[in-house]
Amino acid sequence: MTEQELVRAALDARHHAYAPYSNFHVGAALECEDGTVFTGCNVENAAFGSTMCAERTAIFKAVSEGKRHFCRIAIAGSSGDPCWPCGSCRQVLSEFAPDLELLISTAGGHFVKTDLTALLPHSFGAGNLGE
Ligand code: THU
Repeated sequence: MTEQELVRAALDARHHAYAPYSNFHVGAALECEDGTVFTGCNVENAAFGSTMCAERTAIFKAVSEGKRHFCRIAIAGSSGDPCWPCGSCRQVLSEFAPDLELLISTAGGHFVKTDLTALLPHSFGAGNLGE
């Protein structure tokens, strides 16, 4: 899948977003090492803290289907700015894919490429738990 196709999948995933409170629709498309792609959208809740982001929806879908090895994720919001992943999503992505490549897109499909080393330096991981 090309980068543009993965970004397109994230843009399309926004159509399923349930975001009546923020009206900010987010889509994500997570590519596994075997080429499988899992999409996700944000799912809001009247108890705001129970909201789930698009990226975590995608990764939880993938892990619950037996996938744990990921190479890229595209994330698309609904504004002219790139949709940077929130801190919780960065942490969850880091758990499974510290070397993940991220394609961060605007609503218009323009994207910047980055990685978790840049977005989550000095991260906390399994290695920090000691014995
Ligand atoms: N949102 C995501 O889906 N991903 C992020 O990384 C940032 C925020 C969603 C959550 C909420 O539904 C809306 O965007 C506004 O915060």
